[in-house]
Amino acid sequence: MIVDGVTMGRFRAALLIGSTIGLTACAAAFARDTQPPAAMPGADRLSTIVSEAHIRFKDVKDGANADYIPILATVPSELFAVVIATRDGKIYSAGDADYRYSIQSVSKPFTAALVMQQYGDPDILKDKIGIEPTGLPFNSKLALEIYDTRSVNPLVNAGAIASVSLVKARDEEERWQMVLANLQAFAGGAKLSLLDEVYKSEYETAWSNRGIANLLFNYERLYSDPEEALRVYTQQCSVGINTRELALMGATLANGGVNPATGKRLLDESSVPELLALMLTAGFYDESGEWAYSAGLPAKTGVGGGIVAIVPGQFAIASFSPRVNTAGNSVRAMLAIRFIAGELGVGLFGPNPE
Ligand code: DON
Repeated sequence: MIVDGVTMGRFRAALLIGSTIGLTACAAAFARDTQPPAAMPGADRLSTIVSEAHIRFKDVKDGANADYIPILATVPSELFAVVIATRDGKIYSAGDADYRYSIQSVSKPFTAALVMQQYGDPDILKDKIGIEPTGLPFNSKLALEIYDTRSVNPLVNAGAIASVSLVKARDEEERWQMVLANLQAFAGGAKLSLLDEVYKSEYETAWSNRGIANLLFNYERLYSDPEEALRVYTQQCSVGINTRELALMGATLANGGVNPATGKRLLDESSVPELLALMLTAGFYDESGEWAYSAGLPAKTGVGGGIVAIVPGQFAIASFSPRVNTAGNSVRAMLAIRFIAGELGVGLFGPNPE
């Protein structure tokens, strides 16, 4: 009975994912044939729109700080920032854009990029982690049982822990330093550091992620010692970032893999579309469909309240607000980014109505 249920669930998930990919490809082809890409908005427009988004949503109080990592509950809930960083490095910001918070899962695509870059093999993520959306919460253990790839994709916790374990390093310290240096490079050479209290709070309560790491190791889908991968993954999530830096990280992907501030190539141009596809299909976990439907942009969220979305070839929109919904996605940051994407008409498949 159980086997039948699981098989049926996987069959339905495969149909859903297959049809989503088919529809996405059709929509992209249709958009290409019928609409020219939205032109890059000018400086005045970008500056106005970040302020408008900030004013429009600053009083929204929906959601609540995440508290399964106890320290996150103590971050002031009223903080709110909206930032656009263009592919040529110009920054437009409103609100608390300099406040540093833990990057959490927004780090995941950037470490996946490091793995792609280190291995120079376009199929590394596909072979060693997986690239399908789970349609399940970010910390799902069920996903490990129902998908043969186990970790499923690099943007859920399992796949992100597997990404860290794939980073080529001689020891744990070097693994951590490579992860940190990569985040810093994406942030335009900013001096980022570990938020010690966040790391302590998260590592002391990391029972769920420890379970995931051990299960992956058991299935031979983790490529380092499980506790080492867990520690470095937790350090990665505990890196402090502000919303300007986050926007610059996204602008690197908008700029085809070259950081706009330093001119350094961090990801091969040919790998950028693959990473953005993962962000579109899995960046919001079990809300990824809703996000693609309503905003039409590749993006990644973090339970600390940060989100970054990419308008390929143009700019990145980052926003931060600590109150998250039940999927772990920041309520005001989602509203702000969706509003900006809608107003500027930059959704990948054509302008999304508000
Ligand atoms: O592993 C965790 O649970 C956290 N360090 C990251 C989760 C997260 O950010 C989910 N995203 N919205």
